[in-house]
Amino acid sequence: MWAIIPVIVALLAPVFVSTVFSYPQTPFIDIENIAVRSNGQLLLNYITSPTTYLIDPARSPAVPELIYSFPGTNSTAGITETIPDVFAVVAGNYSTSTFQGTWGSFAVWTIDLRGGLPATVKKVASIPDAHGLDGATVLPSAPHIVLIADSSLGVIWSVDTSTGAYSQIIQESGLDPSSTFLLGVNGIKVYQDNLYFTNSAQRTYARIQIDPATGAAIGPVTILATLPEDLTAYDDFAMDSAGNAWVTAHDSSLYKISTSGDQTLVYGPDAALLNEPTSAAFGRGSPAQECLLYVVTAGSAGESSGQVLALNTC
Ligand SMILES: *[C@@H]1O[C@H](CO)[C@@H](O)[C@H](O)[C@H]1NC(C)=O
Ligand SMILES: *[C@@H]1O[C@H](CO)[C@@H](O)[C@H](O)[C@H]1NC(C)=O
Repeated sequence: MWAIIPVIVALLAPVFVSTVFSYPQTPFIDIENIAVRSNGQLLLNYITSPTTYLIDPARSPAVPELIYSFPGTNSTAGITETIPDVFAVVAGNYSTSTFQGTWGSFAVWTIDLRGGLPATVKKVASIPDAHGLDGATVLPSAPHIVLIADSSLGVIWSVDTSTGAYSQIIQESGLDPSSTFLLGVNGIKVYQDNLYFTNSAQRTYARIQIDPATGAAIGPVTILATLPEDLTAYDDFAMDSAGNAWVTAHDSSLYKISTSGDQTLVYGPDAALLNEPTSAAFGRGSPAQECLLYVVTAGSAGESSGQVLALNTC
């Protein structure tokens, strides 16, 4: 009878199929964000260094390869694909002890991988009045326009990667940080003319209807889910083709939230395997890859560094 139990557990809780890569404990390396190329290779950004690295999960062993080190800054955050194989990256100075960015340090760059490596890298715009640029996504109907969450100011910036023009496109109290936790809006994705977002300080997952051509808000914030009480904060997320968000949650959990707000625990809490998950992205390139959710973690200084994990969602 007891032999049946592992089968039931496996059905209820999908297991992580693999650890793609683990950084050694020292120096401490905190992975902040991930994007996936159409060929299945992963692009990674870091709170602890101003770099974007590439990891090919098909290689054994998978080894991180430096794509670019952004001068004059000490972190990278959001990363999103604008046109095929061109990625916009947020770089700036960020302190993990205060959850504050540094005024005057933030900029948006593009990494063009169409000609292979080395990549062609360009600065699109410096945004001196940004204070804590975090998650990034594109407008699906105008993908040269990148939307970026400013976690410290509680606003969404719009950056036109073809002209460098930028502006604050959404200002809403639902995006704000709190006086005690300075990290408000965090991950953002657009699905069917709504901007879906996590707010770490307000412990919410919510959406706001937007103008598909500009990203401007055309409706109020609708809260879809709230973080269970015993957890610390929602972080960034991946969105599947049905609009389900696969949301990382500190300290060590992963949730799935539907467009109607049904929230289910996918994995965790598990501090050993999923130590401070920060973001997630689906694999690309084959049906098997599209089943894989890559989850990146920050780890904890003195305990473990960041990891790239792969979870089979099919
Ligand atoms: C990055 O620079 C800011 C000051 O601009 C500092 O507060 C922060 O600790 C630095 N972060 C790292 C990881 O060195
Ligand atoms: C950001 O950090 C870099 C590297 O530590 C430093 O050279 C630069 O002056 C900092 N920028 C600001 C605006 O503080």
